[in-house]
Amino acid sequence: MEPTDANYDEDQVPAYTLPDPLVMANGEPIADAATWTQKRRPEILQLFKTHVYGEMPGPLADARWEITEEGQALAGRARRRQIRVHFAADGPCMDILLYIPAGTQGPVPTFVGLNFFGNHTVLRDPNIHLNPNWMRPERKNGIVDNRATPDSRGCLSHRWPVADIIARGYALATVYSGDIDPDYDDGYHNGVHPLFYKEGQTRPGPDQWGTIGAWAWGLSRAMDYLQSDADIGDVAVLGLSRLGKTSLWAGACDPRFALVISNESGCGGAALSRRRYGETIRHINESFPHWFCDNFRRYNDAEDDLPLDQHLLLALIAPRPLYVASAVEDRWCDPRGEFLAAQAADPVYRLLGCDGLPADEMPAVDQPVQGRIGYHIRSGGHDLTAYDWSQYLDFADLHLRERPMPTGQDFPTADGESGLEPAL
Ligand code: GCU
Repeated sequence: MEPTDANYDEDQVPAYTLPDPLVMANGEPIADAATWTQKRRPEILQLFKTHVYGEMPGPLADARWEITEEGQALAGRARRRQIRVHFAADGPCMDILLYIPAGTQGPVPTFVGLNFFGNHTVLRDPNIHLNPNWMRPERKNGIVDNRATPDSRGCLSHRWPVADIIARGYALATVYSGDIDPDYDDGYHNGVHPLFYKEGQTRPGPDQWGTIGAWAWGLSRAMDYLQSDADIGDVAVLGLSRLGKTSLWAGACDPRFALVISNESGCGGAALSRRRYGETIRHINESFPHWFCDNFRRYNDAEDDLPLDQHLLLALIAPRPLYVASAVEDRWCDPRGEFLAAQAADPVYRLLGCDGLPADEMPAVDQPVQGRIGYHIRSGGHDLTAYDWSQYLDFADLHLRERPMPTGQDFPTADGESGLEPAL
């Protein structure tokens, strides 16, 4: 719930100074791409690990995956593949749901994103495994007693226009975030954290990963699989809200993500913390104590003490294409703070020899701008909509389309495709 003390008044935004992306912590200026890559980028990445998201481990040596199901979908226009990734010999595992355009030969560009309530919620396709794991209660989405019921099939399909994505020649991969770490504060006993505890350890250290770190780690484990799949080409990572914070952190840590999208990620995502507009660091740490590393709590009501701000997270994506999206009614996420962060990351893109954000001012509602950094503020509230997807598909066309479009297949137009129809 949004607290009553949130600031939504631009006049109450305090004066602040952002850390300069092109100046080292010791004051040394960064004047060329090589020094950015060798010195400043690692310094910033380390600051985010220590103060915000925590250190995260690599993959475990005994990880493995198996294809659990394959078939045709969307009346033959797509191939569906379900893959179970075992993070370790024992313990939690995650299911990847993959839709690939039918008739494609060779690798296709792919979107990957975590979902909130199970893979079976993204499309009303009876062949998708119904997720058996713990979920946040949401009766309207068919979650009863913290478990998915068959009623939840397809309940969030408006966020995943699979038919449109396929029609544009992209594959889509998704994973339930709770397979990696359930979204509640249990002291990190469930999920993937215990797989890495040393003898006697019961909780990650103050500078080690919380749940957002674990989710981002899970996206990299999905990437491990996707890289092994001959149908999959460049991978764009995206996420809404808490899962948008996650897509940014995954993109920052794992350069294999070729394009990164933040859909209304807000506080701890794309929005500048120093503005204290909408959700603040105190709000987020108190409501979701498990999301960030424990060190982040030091910055409750002390945003100016942070040696970073979220524009530097965006700068870590450079020179890869980055899209930041806001919604006009989603003040909790601070749309202006998201835009200003994208703008403040722009000099890094320019230093690296590409164009950045082609906008001096915040664009008008529903007027996207797309350079190497894209941005839009759309009408409406907090959600991942067909409008958002349509911009991301255009943006991906712009940046990932060196590969030829799939051949041997006439793709239907996006018109009239709801993504709701059952698979064959
Ligand atoms: C809450 C939270 C946000 C988060 C959002 C979501 O509103 O305060 O930080 O982004 O949930 O994930 O939907």
